[in-house]
Amino acid sequence: MSTGSPYLETQLLTKRFDGVVAVDEVNLSIRRGEIFALLGSSGCGKSTLLRMLAGFEAPTSGRILLDGQDIVGTPPYERPVNMMFQSYALFPHLSVWDNVAFGLRREGLRSAEVKQRVDEMLNLVQLSDFGRRKPHQLSGGQQQRVALARSLAKRPRLLLLDEPLGALDKKLREQTQFELVNIIESVGVTCVMVTHDQEEAMTMASRIAVMSKGRVLQVGAPHELYEFPNCRFVADFIGNVNLFEGRLSEDEPDRCQVSTDLGVLQVGHGVSGTLNMPVALAVRPEKIRVSKERPAQAHNVLQGQVREIAYFGAHNTYIVQSSTGQRIKITQANTSRHEQGEITWDDQVWFWWADDAGVVLRD
Ligand SMILES: Nc1ncnc2c1ncn2[C@@H]1O[C@H](COP(=O)(O)OP(=O)(O)OP(=O)(O)O)[C@@H](O)[C@H]1O
Ligand SMILES: [Mg+2]
Repeated sequence: MSTGSPYLETQLLTKRFDGVVAVDEVNLSIRRGEIFALLGSSGCGKSTLLRMLAGFEAPTSGRILLDGQDIVGTPPYERPVNMMFQSYALFPHLSVWDNVAFGLRREGLRSAEVKQRVDEMLNLVQLSDFGRRKPHQLSGGQQQRVALARSLAKRPRLLLLDEPLGALDKKLREQTQFELVNIIESVGVTCVMVTHDQEEAMTMASRIAVMSKGRVLQVGAPHELYEFPNCRFVADFIGNVNLFEGRLSEDEPDRCQVSTDLGVLQVGHGVSGTLNMPVALAVRPEKIRVSKERPAQAHNVLQGQVREIAYFGAHNTYIVQSSTGQRIKITQANTSRHEQGEITWDDQVWFWWADDAGVVLRD
């Protein structure tokens, strides 16, 4: 296989459970060595998709190609794949060392080799001194690393992680995200992980597939999904967004117009759409400026009343209500802008954004 071809590919992969389509014609193309995230809310089909990759669930239809080979008919234990489950139950009565050794012994590896691999894995996850402890004598993050060591011990070529940090509290989770990425990258294993936490996906993955109702809506690098979402769902799921609903009233290759209740909005890209079609202009809160003074700019300048202000140290968030009642979220860095006058509750303000700040969404 050349390095350019995908390492793992799904083609029209579908799983139906009597009546429910859990995974719906999913096409994915995952590169060797990549950390790839499946992101979506509860019940969207993430675990089912992962279980099909592992071989624990048979597809209703579609193909799974690993390194060019169709593996749909291959039983789980013959796939070079290891899956760490949503609740990564460690064996409570076994020591850390024996937990990691468990799968290797079952495979019939010689004890010298078991020892060498377990020691190597515990070293990798920095738990060499904890081998004799039982799982309940470890912190949540340490238990998580034991589970990872156990998954990596068999040297899978594809590592599947279902909500790897789901059992950890927020603080520990953020810390462990980086550790996990470092370990996975140092081993060089291709990894597909499942999460419903967009920050976790953005932090850990090189690319993300956003799923909803069994379908993949968009695949992209974190910044691509953030800057160029292809639909309302993705725009809203990844970060915060303001949606200005309207109709496409002009459409050129390099610009277009969206006519809304708030007036005509200018956009610095074309959409190759049909005039008058319903669309939404998506603008991120940090791309909107706000002031009590009218700006010099002519386009995309609106007025409203400040309803809420939240101070977050480095930035402020304003909720500004337009004449139509729409509440617009605006985030501004806290630089020295005091000369323009402090903005307070109930102030009438101007808010505006650049033509290239927004993205037009059809779906
Ligand atoms: N064995 C099963 N029998 C019937 N329906 C199932 C089965 N497994 C999953 N489903 C259904 O398929 C859909 C997708 O489930 P899945 O577990 O893949 O979701 P998920 O994205 O992993 O959700 P969560 O984030 O809550 O773990 C759900 O509607 C679920 O009820
Ligand atoms: Mg799940």
